[in-house]
Amino acid sequence: MNFPHFMLKEIHEQPDVIRDQIDRVISIGLPDRINILACGTSLHAGLVGQFLFEQIAKIPTQVRSSSESLCAPLLETPNTITIAITQSGETADTLAALQQVQSKRIAITNGIDSTITKLAEDTIYTNAGEEKSVAATKTFTSQLILFYKLAFQIAHWNQKLSDREFAAQVEALQQIPQQLEKFLSNNTIAEIAQSLKETRDLIVLGTGINCAIALEGALKLKEATYTHAEGYAAGEFLHGSIAVLDSQIPTLAIVTENNIRMQKTIDRIRANGNRVIEIEARTISELFSPFLTVVQLQLLAYHLAILRGIDVDRPRNITKSLTT
Ligand code: M6R
Repeated sequence: MNFPHFMLKEIHEQPDVIRDQIDRVISIGLPDRINILACGTSLHAGLVGQFLFEQIAKIPTQVRSSSESLCAPLLETPNTITIAITQSGETADTLAALQQVQSKRIAITNGIDSTITKLAEDTIYTNAGEEKSVAATKTFTSQLILFYKLAFQIAHWNQKLSDREFAAQVEALQQIPQQLEKFLSNNTIAEIAQSLKETRDLIVLGTGINCAIALEGALKLKEATYTHAEGYAAGEFLHGSIAVLDSQIPTLAIVTENNIRMQKTIDRIRANGNRVIEIEARTISELFSPFLTVVQLQLLAYHLAILRGIDVDRPRNITKSLTT
């Protein structure tokens, strides 16, 4: 298939990127604590990793942006492992942050032989292929799939998942590429983008594992479309921030199966007469929904950028990696 832009091509490559990762053997051992360092989109993948390590594998996990960890380093125990995630492997803050770590250092990167691989004891490659668009898409989902695999593996080793449960989770993971393909071949995101053409401010809400996707969706919308977008946890949004909403500011609500908290928030916003657009993933279990929800937000950012005549592969003011 021919695509007019790298961003769209890379969004559509995600099922294959995930498929290629599923049967790979990877390991980080069995730590008693995990620290994660990253920036931007990689930081949001780290937040999904934190959710999985804590909720599935029951390993205490901290995430800090690399730049902030230089001011406030994460606490380490003798059996902590620190994971630095960076698509490029060259982000200056992540390199500096990893250098100051005492615990076992693992890099997750798409950058073959990049600088981060020289600073880490072990490297897990995301193998997503070159990502040319400045906005990270397929490298994000390639980072996610590794976190799912590692969390299930640790949970199996430390008996938080039985053999049967582990096999069921791996099987569910194997269904993701197909589910994504189905979605990509038939979606109506371009129509939603059309309805947001004149919108200057957007709110993105998520709950649970999709809080990280709300942040990532807002980042994608900011960098690709220059829209002022902010991501929030839905419940937290009600504690003051909801005051910003008016008829000019739509909310994108990530809605998953049986999500009572999100429904309550949506009802509150609509009751005030303000618009809510549902980014919906009800047909997949909530645990795996980030693959389907993030792709919708990536596509929305892409289509909106095109409608606004933005050079989507090379947005203003940013570069592919921040090396200084
Ligand atoms: O190469 P890295 O993953 O370390 O890059 C980190 C961020 O600079 C990067 O994710 C940035 O936020 C992207 N433009 C996101 O699309």
